[in-house]
Amino acid sequence: MKNVLITGATRGLGRALTVQLCEQGYRVYASGRDAEALAQLQQQTGCLGSCADLADAEQVTALYQRASDALGGIEVLINNAGMNTRKAAVVDTELAEFEWQYAVNLRAPYLLCRAAMSEMQPRGAGQIINVISTVAKRSSPTMGVYTTMKQGLAGLNNVLMKEAQPLGIKVTAVYPGGMDTEFRDQARPQYIRPEQAAQKIVQLIQDPPELVTHELLFRPPAELE
Ligand SMILES: NC(=O)c1ccc[n+]([C@@H]2O[C@H](COP(=O)([O-])OP(=O)(O)OC[C@H]3O[C@@H](n4cnc5c(N)ncnc54)[C@H](OP(=O)(O)O)[C@@H]3O)[C@@H](O)[C@H]2O)c1
Repeated sequence: MKNVLITGATRGLGRALTVQLCEQGYRVYASGRDAEALAQLQQQTGCLGSCADLADAEQVTALYQRASDALGGIEVLINNAGMNTRKAAVVDTELAEFEWQYAVNLRAPYLLCRAAMSEMQPRGAGQIINVISTVAKRSSPTMGVYTTMKQGLAGLNNVLMKEAQPLGIKVTAVYPGGMDTEFRDQARPQYIRPEQAAQKIVQLIQDPPELVTHELLFRPPAELE
């Protein structure tokens, strides 16, 4: 079974992914900042893991190395961690929140993709899954900074896909619509449950070598775009 590194594993989609992959025998290295939630997840699933703040570039690079050393190499990277500071018109946003979202939502996945490519390229095999958002397909007022970073991640993903696929490495952009997680303060029962979204991503890892999914987009029935 494959070795998988998952960011943002302490809650929501990343947690559901970790649970499902461990149940199916994958060797998972999970990460997040919340040490208590991570320890609980490790106890529940048997996954490996350690804390890292993805806003810190040095911690991102160190996380990849720790995970690779612990698992004996990463075969699947899932860049799942992400956050939105708040809803605000661009004019009302602060430089600090732009820089924070840049670091977590775009720079960290870039650093992890780069590290994974360096490891996967000589092997001629591997898989990188970038969790973006349907927000990157739209231009929604009050979502300017988040949209900027997620569209940036989509651009990175799409170029990387073309560079990686001839080398035997699969790269997929996942565009979830609304999911009922702690991403927002309020519950959204009409949105997708993280377990359902996780199932679709697990399927990407189980697809046969001759099938590559470039984009996976899914939404709750409450959303049209
Ligand atoms: N929920 C939605 O409606 C929705 C829709 C489309 C796309 N997405 C995307 O889907 C992904 C998963 O979202 P979710 O709904 O599962 O969100 P969530 O429940 O808020 O979980 C986010 C995860 O990211 C981690 N994280 C956040 N900031 C971090 C940082 N600085 N360093 C390390 N880890 C950090 C959190 O862990 P710690 O707090 O422990 O650090 C947590 O495990 C994200 O990329 C999000 O943008 C979400």
